[in-house]
Amino acid sequence: MDDLATGKVIAVNGPIVKATGLRGIGMFDVAEVGSDRLMGEVIRLDKDVTIIQVYEDNTGMRPGDEVISHCRPLSVLLGPGLIGNIYDGIQRPLVGLCEMCGSYIRKGITISPLAVDRKWEFQPLADAGTEVRGGSLIGEVRESPLVLHRVLLPPGVSGTLTGIAPAGQYTIEEEVFTLDTGSGTYSGKLASYWPVRRPRPAGTRKKPSIPLITGQRIIDTFFPIARGGTAAIPGGFGTGKTMTQHALAKWCNADIIVYIGCGERGNEMTEVLTDFPRLIDERNGRPLIERTVMIANTSNMPVPAREVSIYTGVTIAEYYRDMGYGVAVMADSTSRWAEALRELASRLGDMPAEEGFPPYLGTRLAEFYERAGRVETLSGREGDITIIGAVSPPGGDFSEPVTQNTSRFVRCFWALDKTLADARHYPSISWIDSYTEYLSDIGQWWENLDNEWLSIRNELMNILVEDHRLQQVVKLVGSDALPPSEQYVLFCAETIKNVFLQQNSFDPHDKFCSPEKQLKLLHTLVCLYRRGLELVQAGLSVKDIAGLEVVSEIVRLKSEISNREIEKIDAYTLRLEQGLAALKIPTTGE
Ligand SMILES: Nc1ncnc2c1ncn2[C@@H]1O[C@H](COP(=O)(O)OP(=O)(O)OP(=O)(O)O)[C@@H](O)[C@H]1O
Ligand SMILES: [Mg+2]
Repeated sequence: MDDLATGKVIAVNGPIVKATGLRGIGMFDVAEVGSDRLMGEVIRLDKDVTIIQVYEDNTGMRPGDEVISHCRPLSVLLGPGLIGNIYDGIQRPLVGLCEMCGSYIRKGITISPLAVDRKWEFQPLADAGTEVRGGSLIGEVRESPLVLHRVLLPPGVSGTLTGIAPAGQYTIEEEVFTLDTGSGTYSGKLASYWPVRRPRPAGTRKKPSIPLITGQRIIDTFFPIARGGTAAIPGGFGTGKTMTQHALAKWCNADIIVYIGCGERGNEMTEVLTDFPRLIDERNGRPLIERTVMIANTSNMPVPAREVSIYTGVTIAEYYRDMGYGVAVMADSTSRWAEALRELASRLGDMPAEEGFPPYLGTRLAEFYERAGRVETLSGREGDITIIGAVSPPGGDFSEPVTQNTSRFVRCFWALDKTLADARHYPSISWIDSYTEYLSDIGQWWENLDNEWLSIRNELMNILVEDHRLQQVVKLVGSDALPPSEQYVLFCAETIKNVFLQQNSFDPHDKFCSPEKQLKLLHTLVCLYRRGLELVQAGLSVKDIAGLEVVSEIVRLKSEISNREIEKIDAYTLRLEQGLAALKIPTTGE
């Protein structure tokens, strides 16, 4: 039996409510406040005073209103039916809410996060009489054509399996197994609750060694992220954060995507909601929605629900990780989340630190990103969570607190550049300001595909860095003043930008570039650089090389050649080699 605590509101400050009399209530417990029984969460305890943040619009709430609590922590319901669903920050299904109240959500609505009447085909995979513990496999449910849902014993529960239901159709509320825990009977269902703020336990952490393939060339080749890694996408207004997150959510090779639209404009989220059901995964021909869970807490929804939405999202991610899946979490934008934290902190009267953010901003960000990782799960499988957070620094100034704190905890930084975005060079990820710390972790994976990968990648990166340096000189003296070999570096850098770095999210062939296609393009580019440089050093002019017909043709390879016919790129590389070989080097002297 749960304890029931009751109390009275003594003060209301926006969504922050103070109450007294709630005996036995603990931190992060759920409380229902006022006659509408609005849902809130205990965020602070101060002697007899309980401070609650209310997750719904609480206009009209006042001192004297009743508060009740079952003294249970704020939790998410985890079970089959999460996939394809769209939730608000506190896991209320938006489609269900809309059916109940239309487009204006009434206060105090409670609705199950998972359909309670839907039957799932359960396949038992354990025998009565066996000893089981947290993470043990009990059975399976086909949740979507793309996701086989493993029904595992929740962490912290153990005992002897005393009964298991035969294969058949069950709802999430029906008992499918029973356990003798030694101190009582545990009734197991297809779904169970887990507190959002407590990371789900896993076994040993493993070193990330497999890249998350995103199909975005600048990321995969130049600034790769490992599965189980963390990345930030900082960028000023309109530089392409959301587009980049969408591209990753659509095309990255994670098994499950958790997309958290956090404080962004409603219409951006609508785009996701209308886009995803129509998009087909190239790898298996299935709609992408069949592997996606969405959380939408847009800018017009209550601020506290935005604060909790990232924890709701990452807890769902951990649940699928525990089944042995690779999960990618996109959070757009963590700056809007941090603003929610700032607003709540100021209402709590916390001492403001930099730019009004509370001093614990860094700790909270760290706690979120720490939930990423590649682990051995409790059931002995391997699972991972990759977290990618967009950051929107005001005025595009990366020295502000959210960007600075985030960069301390992520190992991959894809800095968006306003100049590139203005020039409509997309993705506008800067090759100068971005970095990754995963190169040595995942290099071997690429080297297994092609043992020249790292050397070519580094060679092209050096051209881009050298180009950046030379551009400063060009600004002062013009490119004609540079020696031919340096002019050739400028030309090659320009070609790399056009052929490789620019990628059009709207082009059917270019929106996703397979690793194999990336490798082919890298070989074409490095051939152009190496052979061409020899010729330039021998006296040929950059113009002669730039004038070759095949050089202008390679710019179109990315959009003309699909991922399935990449051998065609070899023919272009061969023509390039032949074209270069046929160029006549002018004879000097006599
Ligand atoms: N990869 C891309 N391919 C083509 N167009 C792009 C790409 N990235 C961004 N754009 C263009 O830039 C516009 C703005 O991008 P986006 O909405 O992603 O920016 P944002 O950084 O999320 O903006 P905000 O700061 O408002 O959240 C898009 O509407 C689109 O026209
Ligand atoms: Mg955006």
